[in-house]
Amino acid sequence: MANIVSNIPLPDMSLELLPAYLRDVYTWAYLTPGTAWFFDRQIVVQAILWGNAQRLMGDVLAALQPGDRVFQPAAVYGDFSRQVAQRVGPQGRLEVRDVAPLQVCLTRRKLADLPQANVAWADASIPQDGEFDAVTCFFLLHEVPDQVKVQVIHAMLGLVGPTGKVIFVDYHRPHRWHPLKPVMKRIFERLEPFAASLWAHEIQTLAGAAADGFQWRKNTRFRGLYQIVTAERK
Ligand SMILES: C[S@@+](CC[C@H](N)C(=O)[O-])C[C@H]1O[C@@H](n2cnc3c(N)ncnc32)[C@H](O)[C@@H]1O
Repeated sequence: MANIVSNIPLPDMSLELLPAYLRDVYTWAYLTPGTAWFFDRQIVVQAILWGNAQRLMGDVLAALQPGDRVFQPAAVYGDFSRQVAQRVGPQGRLEVRDVAPLQVCLTRRKLADLPQANVAWADASIPQDGEFDAVTCFFLLHEVPDQVKVQVIHAMLGLVGPTGKVIFVDYHRPHRWHPLKPVMKRIFERLEPFAASLWAHEIQTLAGAAADGFQWRKNTRFRGLYQIVTAERK
């Protein structure tokens, strides 16, 4: 398969055309080249996730097989997409999408030597065409408003084939006496206003009636602060 990562044109998007929540809340994180350059390192992602990033990525990799067709709805800083592309190997396929042109560029650059990977612009809340063995939704839900969470979950469930699965990795309500619970609360209040709702709502519940066609499994890590939710077609 030819590497077409750099051949797909990016839309000429002004900031006003991006989702309002991204512009209003996350310009510093995803739309600013200077800070993106800093964040886009595995060691920074590892620090942001209190040393759990590689373990959580490992949970996703363990659910994938060589040859799988994988859809990733949003870019992830660090090595995540490279690891997924390497896991599915040259017989597999990784389709990465992101709504921020800067993130599309950075991810294309990171994956340029892996012909099984393709990166393009798309909004994960809008249903996409295609059928995949797995969808890996890594820390996207906590960054979008609740209504968009529901739209993204529906769009991702719609992408898996008859034996496919969606793997959601994200924040989760930590155990009652988790020492980082007050810290995370403060971080969410100041920087991540849509994250706390994942402490109150199960991803399966947000899926509504669409959940019925799937078998749901939830594991948590780091005393509940993170969840890995797998929805596998029945
Ligand atoms: C996956 S999330 C968070 C990942 C994690 N904080 C990290 O280490 O990178 C970050 C990405 O989601 C993208 N994003 C936000 N809303 C989106 C949407 N509706 N569709 C596609 N990408 C979206 C942002 O542009 C950003 O690149």
